[in-house]
Amino acid sequence: MAKKHYSIGLWNMKTLFHCSVVMFLVGGLATLVFYRNNNQVAGNVNDVKVTLITKTSTTPANENENMNTDTNRIVSHHQRRLKIPPPSLSLTDTCDLFSGRWVHDNKSHYPLYKEDECPYLNADLACLTYGRKDSKYQQWRWQPHGCDFPRFDGKAIVERLKGKRLLFVGDSVNRNQWDSMMCMLHSSIPGKKKLNMGGLNHTLYSFRSIDYNISIDYYWAPMLVESNGDDPSNHRLDHRTIRINSIEKHARHWVDADILVFNTYLWWRLPIIKFLKSPGSLLGGPNQVYDEVNNVRAYKKVLEIWSKWVHSHIDPAKTKLFFMGLTATHSRAADWGGKKQGTCYKETEPVMDDQFWESGTDPKMLQILEASLNKLKAKGVNVQLMNITQLTQCRKDAHPTVHKKIWHPLTDAQKRNPERTSDCTHWCLPGVPDIWNELLLAHIFPVTETASLYKQR
Ligand SMILES: *[C@@H]1O[C@H](CO)[C@@H](O)[C@H](O)[C@H]1NC(C)=O
Ligand SMILES: *[C@@H]1O[C@H](CO)[C@@H](O)[C@H](O)[C@H]1NC(C)=O
Ligand SMILES: *[C@@H]1O[C@H](CO)[C@@H](O)[C@H](O)[C@H]1NC(C)=O
Ligand SMILES: *[C@@H]1O[C@H](CO)[C@@H](O)[C@H](O)[C@H]1NC(C)=O
Repeated sequence: MAKKHYSIGLWNMKTLFHCSVVMFLVGGLATLVFYRNNNQVAGNVNDVKVTLITKTSTTPANENENMNTDTNRIVSHHQRRLKIPPPSLSLTDTCDLFSGRWVHDNKSHYPLYKEDECPYLNADLACLTYGRKDSKYQQWRWQPHGCDFPRFDGKAIVERLKGKRLLFVGDSVNRNQWDSMMCMLHSSIPGKKKLNMGGLNHTLYSFRSIDYNISIDYYWAPMLVESNGDDPSNHRLDHRTIRINSIEKHARHWVDADILVFNTYLWWRLPIIKFLKSPGSLLGGPNQVYDEVNNVRAYKKVLEIWSKWVHSHIDPAKTKLFFMGLTATHSRAADWGGKKQGTCYKETEPVMDDQFWESGTDPKMLQILEASLNKLKAKGVNVQLMNITQLTQCRKDAHPTVHKKIWHPLTDAQKRNPERTSDCTHWCLPGVPDIWNELLLAHIFPVTETASLYKQR
């Protein structure tokens, strides 16, 4: 159990150094081909609606009900006159985008970018660069069961992100997603761009567009509260120790974001989490007083602490909030009928059963996350669950395995056992996290059903 966790931590000083070298060397940014939305019609409809509502917004509050009816009447009158279809509901209102299946699509849409077109891509995720020979894993489209999915339109997204700070907070899987977001958007952002990975003692990575005033940031807090994993480069420990009530230390750096995307899960999978009660180092040492807490209870507790913080520090009218669901780790090939000692190593095809569930994902933890978000919702704070758990289950083909930069020389035993040294936790880029981001963007900027869609079936 402890051993498996070693593969979770990962990006160290060398990573940081390597990234800056890569960024220094890669001068010209290649242009990506994006598929333009053709949502002219939807745009016009919304304009009509906005104008009419503004006109009636001076009405006293007690007349609201009548005014709504009036507004509706005026809207439909205009629609008749202008022959404009009624405004469509946003896709996320009408369709569960997270329930679906993977469809192989090598015609046009994917990948959304190429490895060598993204100067920000971390060497732990650039699988083709590090020797992966098959690239089919880059060509899968997510097809929701109930509807079609809007096409990614980088330029339109970038326009809407102007003046905003998007901040990912969590563990290295969230950093994986942040990396994907930079790769998806950078070529659509004109002008000067900067990446700084040294903020706040290397816990804050900030991608800034100067001309457009956009920040796409990541904050390392793998357990959200203060933990012995807080050093982003040195956290390979065989125990998990946290200060359960200490969230403010990290969270004070999150408050000014416009869009907050949290995750935390993988670090809670050791059976026991230590709750430190005495002051002093979280890294161990003499005279420590702590409670040993079962990991499921600990997960519940940390989400309570986090919920309290969100409730008292975040104004949901100003900040959009998201929580990424648990992601699969494909370390037991037997789950999908593979070799007994096998892992995700050498897997090149997804599992084609869209109900597949690998044994490393704990459904209890997902229920705890859902219940925590529901409680917050009842208090008026809506944190949208990005329910990606099922869609990650099938993608045993999409992990870096051994195709990543090796930072520490492998031992002979490790070399003999690529199955065990494989990274089955993170995701190659371009790849699966691009889909999470497409889903995230569809929730941040609700698209209407008339937007340009990926072709169905
Ligand atoms: C696309 O995929 C299909 C199978 O889904 C395969 O038969 C075809 O050769 C592929 N085309 C290209 C250009 O890779
Ligand atoms: C840039 O965006 C931030 C929000 O991320 C905002 O607080 C700030 O005022 C903006 N600056 C300019 C010059 O527009
Ligand atoms: C950075 O780390 C040093 C040494 O651990 C500490 O003294 C300092 O307060 C930290 N700075 C910030 C901004 O967290
Ligand atoms: C999230 O996905 C899981 C697995 O597919 C499903 O069981 C659960 O009901 C979903 N939760 C929500 C809130 O949609």
